[in-house]
Amino acid sequence: MKALVTGISGFVGSHMAEFLLGKGVEVVGTIRNRSRMNHIESIAKELHLVECELRDPFSVETLIQSEKPDYIFHLAAQSFVPTSWNSPMDTIANNIAGQLNLLEAVRRYDVPARIQIACSSEEYGHVESHEAPIRETNPLRPLSPYAISKVAQDYLGYQYFKSYGLRVVRTRTFNHTGPRRGEQFVTSNFAKQIADIEKGLKPPVIYVGNLEAKRDFTDVRDVVRAYWLALEKGAPGEAYNIASGTCWSIADMLRLLLSFSEVKIEIRQDPARMRPSDVELLLGNYDLFHDATGWSPEIPFERTMEDLLNYWRSQPQPHVEQGA
Ligand code: GDD
Repeated sequence: MKALVTGISGFVGSHMAEFLLGKGVEVVGTIRNRSRMNHIESIAKELHLVECELRDPFSVETLIQSEKPDYIFHLAAQSFVPTSWNSPMDTIANNIAGQLNLLEAVRRYDVPARIQIACSSEEYGHVESHEAPIRETNPLRPLSPYAISKVAQDYLGYQYFKSYGLRVVRTRTFNHTGPRRGEQFVTSNFAKQIADIEKGLKPPVIYVGNLEAKRDFTDVRDVVRAYWLALEKGAPGEAYNIASGTCWSIADMLRLLLSFSEVKIEIRQDPARMRPSDVELLLGNYDLFHDATGWSPEIPFERTMEDLLNYWRSQPQPHVEQGA
């Protein structure tokens, strides 16, 4: 059994790789020359890492033709919503072209792989309160260029299943977090700010954006288990919500994090952290996925957030240059 993980050096990719190695699966992962390797440093020897630019069709064809994976976990993407407002074309081109090249290569070389596509709850976008918990049948009303790119990835998966019979399973994952989460995302950003304050690296003020939004958070370690089950037991062509079925306001999530710390911290709103349009409510219904695979999330959110804060507490202090 050989699995290909695109974006293996990223947050979810590194957890996916660890999970697959634990199952005794041979793991191939794509990296780019500018990829930071710190998340997979400790397991790099057990992985087969291939430099591959997914936007380059030749690079992807060579990869698929030579590796012929059984399972493909397509995780590589520009995944931060605000970046997609600053450079919409880059997010849209990157996320769509990478996937198109992957699907085309699998089709052309007739590789009988099962392919998981990391789609997103952001695709649902604007949700009326009576529509929550959101089911897969909910209308998609995307509110950012990132969300548009994920709708395209989602429907490309559907189209390649219908047109060519590719065994694509689409996972619409709600927010997920845990150790190694990139520091721009809200859970990690707040946890890192708290850890930095505790270390005396910054004054006891935490900067925040929109605290009213509500999100449905799942631990990344539950998410990678879901991705595995999606390919083991999910139906090709289907789209599944991966969610916890509960939601937290960002304000309550912040209160939870602060409850783990002894330090007294002032909360200050930073207008630069507000978005042109924010998705106000994401709360998922994961019955369809549970019925297909038996999956339910196992790690309580409180533990996830404590692990995340401890992750940032354990990170080495940045090197400060001495003298002139
Ligand atoms: N990043 C950030 N920083 N968000 C903040 C802050 C802050 O200081 N303060 C409040 N927020 C609010 C955002 O406005 C948003 O409503 C919520 O916190 C979550 O923001 P993010 O963590 O940046 O995630 P996201 O919900 O935009 O998107 C994430 O989840 C999607 C699935 O729903 C990402 O992981 C996407 O890649 C993923 O597809």
